[in-house]
Amino acid sequence: MQKLTIKKILNKKNKQPIACLTAYSKAIAQIADKYCDIILVGDSLGMVLYGMTTTKKVKIETMILHCKAVKDFTNKSLVIFDMPYKTYENKFIAYKNARKVMQLTNCDGIKLEGGKKIVNIIKYLIKKGIPVMGHIGVLPQTSTNFKVKGKNFIQKKKILDDAIAISNSGVFAIVLECVVEDLAKIITKSVSVPTIGIGASKYCDGQILVTDDMLGLSDFFPKFVKQYSNLKKVIEKSVKSYVRDVKLRKFPSDKNVYK
Ligand code: KIV
Repeated sequence: MQKLTIKKILNKKNKQPIACLTAYSKAIAQIADKYCDIILVGDSLGMVLYGMTTTKKVKIETMILHCKAVKDFTNKSLVIFDMPYKTYENKFIAYKNARKVMQLTNCDGIKLEGGKKIVNIIKYLIKKGIPVMGHIGVLPQTSTNFKVKGKNFIQKKKILDDAIAISNSGVFAIVLECVVEDLAKIITKSVSVPTIGIGASKYCDGQILVTDDMLGLSDFFPKFVKQYSNLKKVIEKSVKSYVRDVKLRKFPSDKNVYK
């Protein structure tokens, strides 16, 4: 398995769809690595794993632990670290934190939420040798709601301007979260780097989903998530069988005992 590089991801634009998923653990990383181009250690872990109501309280130390677990069991995919809220308030804070993250996790790059406003931060990090993935549209760290963006002209123009600004500042890909289809199509045609959609239509250069959502492990089922499994049901069935076996003294059986 050949390790993917930022250059290879850039080269996929207009050629091959880019498949991405989130991972927070060794087990998911090992599976995702076999098939995905990019694995994102997303700050969505705050809500998905820790039951927080927003991603705002996710700590960089928590992200580092999960990212290390993912990176240590990934060989081929690019592993991207999602910088948590308030860890990149200006270019110096961003660099200090991003450098620490890169050193401690050995990840391949970081992701930042924001458009024009953070261009100077993006440029500074890239100048310092840190690959950056952008994220525009719905921004879970700062958005007041999770409503689809780009339904009116003002929003469309703002998001397109943001996309062009961060693309020109050197990001290697842009996550487009929950934007209307025609805007995703225009942005994808207007920028030179791949767009990775989540709720942003087939016109993006790639797709990402939160793995727990598509596996049916979370309780979050918006329209843009296709559920590929219902792991909650599978796990419940197994837990129920185990408890029944214990109560009926069927487990452990002879097979599970040291003699
Ligand atoms: O935190 C995350 O998982 C993300 C994806 C939804 C793109 O940012």
